[in-house]
Amino acid sequence: KVVAVILVGGPTKGTRFRPLSLNIPKPLFPIAGQPMVHHPISACKRIPNLAQVYLLGFYEEREFALYVSAISNELKVPVRYLREDKPHGSAGGLYHFRNLIMEDNPSHIFLLNCDVCCSFPLPEMLEAHRKYGGIGTLLVIKVSPESASQFGELVADPVTNELLHYTEKPETFVSDRINCGVYVFTPEIFTAIRDVSSQRNDTATLRRVSSYEALQPATRIPADFVRLDQDILSPLAGKKQLYTYETMDFWEQIKSPGPTGWSSLVSDRINCGVYVFTPEIFTAIRDVSSQRNDTATLRRVSSYEALQPATRIPADFVRLDQDILSPLAGKKQLYTYETMDFWEQIKSPGMSLRCSELYLSQFRLTSPHMLAIGDGTKSAIVIGDVYIHPSAKVHPTAKIGPNVSISANARVGPGVRLISCIILDDVEIMENAVVTNAIVGWKSSIGRWSRAEGVYNSKLGVTILGDSVAVEDEVVVTSSIVLPNKTLNVSVQDEIIL
Ligand code: GDD
Repeated sequence: KVVAVILVGGPTKGTRFRPLSLNIPKPLFPIAGQPMVHHPISACKRIPNLAQVYLLGFYEEREFALYVSAISNELKVPVRYLREDKPHGSAGGLYHFRNLIMEDNPSHIFLLNCDVCCSFPLPEMLEAHRKYGGIGTLLVIKVSPESASQFGELVADPVTNELLHYTEKPETFVSDRINCGVYVFTPEIFTAIRDVSSQRNDTATLRRVSSYEALQPATRIPADFVRLDQDILSPLAGKKQLYTYETMDFWEQIKSPGPTGWSSLVSDRINCGVYVFTPEIFTAIRDVSSQRNDTATLRRVSSYEALQPATRIPADFVRLDQDILSPLAGKKQLYTYETMDFWEQIKSPGMSLRCSELYLSQFRLTSPHMLAIGDGTKSAIVIGDVYIHPSAKVHPTAKIGPNVSISANARVGPGVRLISCIILDDVEIMENAVVTNAIVGWKSSIGRWSRAEGVYNSKLGVTILGDSVAVEDEVVVTSSIVLPNKTLNVSVQDEIIL
């Protein structure tokens, strides 16, 4: 048996996807008319002997509950959401749920990042992995040397395909072959993750003790904070430097209404807080201060080194790339499978438009029934690859495509022109409006003769309208991002409307 785990991440990870991630978790954002995560799930269907698909993330349970039951029914694959109580990293989450994942006693575990767009050649990877042996095989692709540094760069043996070297997002160029975020592992991956985690646990405890001791003096007293009593009088006492003059007159301290007491008596003579010094006092103060400065610097260095591993990475937070792939490279444990097909990462809203295009053109080969066929009589004129949800109402005189997806209950009026755009649920596009290179958010409306368009090489690129934005009649929105619930009655260009 084989199981698949899809990493869906959690709310803090979706910030680059704003304003579209304000409404729904990024993995449920529609691409080519289907939630982003639908594409890897449906690719899993082609894995022989697939027992279960797990979505693993730290979004609220309820955000995925409906989707998980709908997709299980639709695709006839058991899909289950596993919620982490906190982020464990791309490998730590897998390890956290190891008992559940191993319930069906699978021989292989697929692990897929949800925010990648590709043809997911999973059966081919499994076959290659069986040939190679080892504990895992990762999907790789050749990209341009300029873009490689945004990803994990790797070197593989051209004959055996063994992963020889792996560096996550390096600053200097290593290779134009990159990690696609799609893996197949044997259950031995759990041992590899456990080793990282338990090794980190040991170091963390040791370091925490030493860093506690080291930090105290450095953080409590800055070098230029010098107290006359503790720092000067105490150490200079008995060194023939300081003398006393006793008053027989009255003296009281004005701090609180009542008298103060001493916990243990040293002497019944006290400091009245009235002094006379020679200028040498400055040397005495400077000495204390500079001595403390030295200690502080010394201590700060040691505590910085000591603190890093203990505070920055908890033992159960394990990243697949830095913590597993890098150290296991070159040890005949990991292998690569190179795809010659398309691959993109979906981090920004603009990329979702590009990925919609890729998936729509893949539908042409794999599921042509998903694509609209327009004839301009009963339905609209359709050009190229277009997805129209069955509940959307599109006027026959509208001209749609290529690369357009129209979600549920959207209404597209007469004479509307749509090119390269994503129209989300309940949007209304009124007559003769034009939308190109744009994403129109849920319940937004575009007025008569208005335009929402993106210019690819401009500052902001694709135009994005958040949820419930109203563009009034004859308004042109060019390469702008509009946050939810705004009304635009004047034209804007290259602006972020907050
Ligand atoms: N469940 C869960 N828990 N998922 C997580 C966590 C976590 O704590 N942290 C990250 N993820 C998910 C993300 O949602 C995403 O699907 C995937 O893990 C990878 O995210 P990151 O760890 O943020 O890495 P990245 O996307 O910047 O880069 C990774 O993927 C690239 C391919 O898309 C790296 O592995 C790169 O080397 C690789 O090229």
